[in-house]
Amino acid sequence: MTEKSTPRVTIPRFRAMKAEGRKITMLTAYDHSMARALDETGIEGILVGDSMSMVVQGHPNTLPVTLDEMIYHAEMVGRAVRQALVVVDMPFPSYHLGKHKAIENAGRILKETRCQAVKLEGGEDQADVISALTAAGIPVMAHCGLRPQSVHQTGGYKVQRDEHQLLTDARTAEAAGAFSIVLECVPAGITRKITDAVSIPTIGIGAGPACDGQVLVINDLLGMTSDYMPRFVKKYADLSTTIREAVGEFRNEVREGKFPGSEHLYE
Ligand code: KIV
Repeated sequence: MTEKSTPRVTIPRFRAMKAEGRKITMLTAYDHSMARALDETGIEGILVGDSMSMVVQGHPNTLPVTLDEMIYHAEMVGRAVRQALVVVDMPFPSYHLGKHKAIENAGRILKETRCQAVKLEGGEDQADVISALTAAGIPVMAHCGLRPQSVHQTGGYKVQRDEHQLLTDARTAEAAGAFSIVLECVPAGITRKITDAVSIPTIGIGAGPACDGQVLVINDLLGMTSDYMPRFVKKYADLSTTIREAVGEFRNEVREGKFPGSEHLYE
């Protein structure tokens, strides 16, 4: 369904949805055609996630993707999207080298991609960076709970249960100027407390229904990820099977001389 008349989702509109009690929907996209399709459904947010490192580039984690690669893909997405708010992940370690470098890198993302905001992993520990970016006019979505960029430090992708630290991270991110917070792999009860404690929208992935919105990796939602699927993913389609069946049919028809048919010829 296309919602062509809906105005562009700005940061104030995105934030206002929480106060209005309207759920926010967000999905990842990494290229122009997918971004266009997602935007035309009327979802409010599109994330050019560093999950691209895994689902597009085939790496075992999100660490290898570079800032230049994120910008290359975000530019395709930014050019496609007319309505949704587009947020781009700051890859590791593009915001760990001081506030000046973080502004330079986030500034490149906004200047070169037409996207409107950046996301970075952190709460209390990244307060100074969030505050510096916000002061520079760069909207920041914080990412608390499970932080995939810290996988080597944490030793794996685990549910985060330190309620005090999670609440501190969320409150500090808000105070530093973040316009929204992604909560990844947080128990539903803690999510409820965090969502009540902050006035900015919480967007959950594996954080239960209390969040103000939900985000999923598009390849997971469409059933295009053949590897291990976390409990929080719901597959709304099985495109992996559909692709294999369609390509198998093409292969058979070519081998059998059935494709191309007369309707596919130029006389
Ligand atoms: O990179 C990504 O796709 C993300 C989502 C999991 C929120 O950060």
